[in-house]
Amino acid sequence: KSYSVAILGATGAVGTELLSLLEERHFPVAQLRLLASPRSAGTIVTFAGENIPVEPVSDRSFDDIDIVLASAGGSTSKAYATKAVAAGAVFIDNSSAFRMHPDVPLVVPEVNPQVAATHKGIIANPNCTTILMNVAVYPLHQVSPVKRIVAATYQSASGAGARAMEEVKAQAQAILAGNTPITEIFPYPLAFNLFPHNTPLNDQGYCEEEMKMVNETRKIFAEPQLQITATCVRVPVLRAHSEAINLEFEQCLSVAEAKEILSQAPGVRVVEDFAANYFPMPIDASGRDEVLVGRIRQDISHPRGLELWLCGDQIRKGAALNAVQIAELLVAKNLLQPSEVAAV
Ligand code: A2P
Repeated sequence: KSYSVAILGATGAVGTELLSLLEERHFPVAQLRLLASPRSAGTIVTFAGENIPVEPVSDRSFDDIDIVLASAGGSTSKAYATKAVAAGAVFIDNSSAFRMHPDVPLVVPEVNPQVAATHKGIIANPNCTTILMNVAVYPLHQVSPVKRIVAATYQSASGAGARAMEEVKAQAQAILAGNTPITEIFPYPLAFNLFPHNTPLNDQGYCEEEMKMVNETRKIFAEPQLQITATCVRVPVLRAHSEAINLEFEQCLSVAEAKEILSQAPGVRVVEDFAANYFPMPIDASGRDEVLVGRIRQDISHPRGLELWLCGDQIRKGAALNAVQIAELLVAKNLLQPSEVAAV
């Protein structure tokens, strides 16, 4: 059996990766509809040797579509998700629009595939830093419950989209040529610089990105009381995110046990050579499916604490790959038809 798939945001950083993943993973595509804004009208994209025109999204775009993979921002998802579901499609959404909605499962296939079965037409793909952290931390949590997580992130430009990646490259060129870098997408120059994540701050001084890591991890782990805090920072890296994670366990978990668990964990590759001081780096994680984890070490400040470092491709596992894995899960488990429709 094969399926009619629509990509909403087909011209973006994640949309482009969705296209390559569908082809690379031989997803059973019967028909592919590529949707974007009117700005992209006339753009032709090649998929499996076929030239497909990009269409401006409209209310009728979802007729005869089985699966929508959406990555065109929250407001576009809000405008079209219920229309797609009413037309009979499952809407797998990369935006944050529905992630915390009680009727919408928030799925990382390596962590909580079972909740996909409860969908009511919309399934949310978590935030990228959350996905990468969850893939690495959940296998440990399953064996030895985690009490508290303290995360610091080093996030690449790709999180802000394709134009943001171009902006950083242009800024680097401008600075090297002795010119003033231009900022349009980002509030400050990112090339040769870094800044705390530029999402809105709450009353407690946490930015939205940090609260996504907190709230989404609690939902995905089904641990509403999990203690978790994060500091999110944008760094001048193009497409892979890095994270320093401190974990406090309820019981002691040794470094050897943690390393053993992670070397068996789905979606994780342990990369560490202490003798050579070689550990995960964004350049090694870019274009790869696995989350690279290393520097697994005892926290010298806490007997039940471990430290680890990870890098993962933000566009791939942090977004497009996770969404395609959700689609694969729905197909494999025959879950495309919702039992009822979400009231979002
Ligand atoms: P377009 O290229 O026509 O602007 P990125 O995350 O890399 O910035 O990409 C965002 C994606 O979402 C692009 O494909 C973009 O299309 C699409 N998009 C943005 N706004 C809209 C909109 N209002 N309607 C449909 N697609 C949109």
